[in-house]
Amino acid sequence: MAYTIVIFGASGDLTSRKLIPALYSLFKKDKLDQLVRIVGVSRSPFGHDEYRLALRETTKKFAGKLFDEASWDAFSENIYYQPGDIKQSADFDALAGFLSEIEEGQPAGRVYYLSTMPQLYEEAIVQLGGAGLADDSDGFRRVIIEKPFGTDLATAQALNESIHKVFREDQIYRIDHYLGKETVQNIFALRFANSIFEPLWNRNYVDHVQITVAEEVVIGRRAGYYDSAGILRDMFQNHILQLMMITAMEPPARYDAALVRDEKVKVLHSVRKMTGADFASNTVRGQYHGYLQEEGVPPGSQTETYAALKLYCDNWRWKGVPFYLRSGKAMSCRTTQIVIQFRQVPHILFGEKTRTPVGNRLVIQVQPAEGIQLHFEAKVPESEMKTRTSTLDFDFNETSGGTMPDAYQRLLLDAILGDASLFARSDEVELAWGIIDPILAAWRSPAAPQLFPYEPGFWGPSEANGWMGDQKREWFDVCPVLTKS
Ligand code: BG6
Repeated sequence: MAYTIVIFGASGDLTSRKLIPALYSLFKKDKLDQLVRIVGVSRSPFGHDEYRLALRETTKKFAGKLFDEASWDAFSENIYYQPGDIKQSADFDALAGFLSEIEEGQPAGRVYYLSTMPQLYEEAIVQLGGAGLADDSDGFRRVIIEKPFGTDLATAQALNESIHKVFREDQIYRIDHYLGKETVQNIFALRFANSIFEPLWNRNYVDHVQITVAEEVVIGRRAGYYDSAGILRDMFQNHILQLMMITAMEPPARYDAALVRDEKVKVLHSVRKMTGADFASNTVRGQYHGYLQEEGVPPGSQTETYAALKLYCDNWRWKGVPFYLRSGKAMSCRTTQIVIQFRQVPHILFGEKTRTPVGNRLVIQVQPAEGIQLHFEAKVPESEMKTRTSTLDFDFNETSGGTMPDAYQRLLLDAILGDASLFARSDEVELAWGIIDPILAAWRSPAAPQLFPYEPGFWGPSEANGWMGDQKREWFDVCPVLTKS
């Protein structure tokens, strides 16, 4: 069966920067076993050729070395453009007619990709239903929805409810692009394809877990979105909680969308709800110096650009083990890493006069370094019994020939093939909001913990270090050394 991918928001940045280069890369690598047609829909008045030409330039830029004219020509023959306004039902009828025309009346599976403004998701779904475009009697119909999925629990529930009137849950693919990253998927392999880590992966051996998503970038021209979102909505509700779920989940019986997501959801169920004084003692909020001067930021904005949270999973595996989650803009470097900090040995024999060993760590480097490091103590040669921390390193790039695919390639391919394992289910999204909403409410209340300013180029507010210090722990503030570009 042929496939048609209909992209709403066809003239937007995501389409040119990520979606088309990803589809082109899949085509070039022969990963698409059937004919794939792409139909771009937006309000701009392009012709087919004009649209193809515009995408050629951007794909050349973003697909890099992979790009070549001959394969682009072959690929782009199947790109079409259909002008349309999501608010106009007549435009959806016209789209339905256009799709039947290019599919030549043959059965075809369709993926509708909503890469529009989030305020239009609901309307787009209703219109798809109204024009009969959700009818899957002659081929699958799936819808991919970009983040943000709602702005809080109530809006996410309402959106789920509206979508479910048109599409069944198994037709809905809620994207979190972190799940498309190879290094994130490798956490499944690390945990469930090896026997040596699993016995240690619990409260008996793990002191705490740190999940850091640090970004060097500032918010730039995104104030319109960012100032009302803030870092909890932008990074925690989705990406960081996803990383936490995969780190903390139980092994599923099979690697299958329903079972994997069941296990992830159980982690969210186990997260202890914060109440009362917890909001002050288990969270740190910060804003980088200069945020208030960014274009479009309202004077005196209290929006967080940094947050650190301490969460607990109240279950057998993790009871009492803190999960420290943090993210910030304008940080020292770009790094996403998960640190499993193991407990200290019960009795220190060596080096206690000069230093206290930090305990073993497993550092899962998600990006831009892509690998895993095991930190362990080894003897300093020619010393008495002094030890220092050494590392065993695994560099993912060495096994991939240095060409790790972009997250969107995997996610688009999975949506075409009908594998929803790496997409968020409705209950997952709602439970995640259920964790974030009370923190946001506490932070917006008169009793909100202080918003700490921090200098760009470091690791967030110094108070966050004091906070960890008070708990006799420290952040793993290490910018990865990249061995390959
Ligand atoms: C997006 C956020 O979802 O993820 C951005 O809206 C953030 O603010 C981006 O910069 C980070 O993604 P990545 O893949 O670069 O880590």
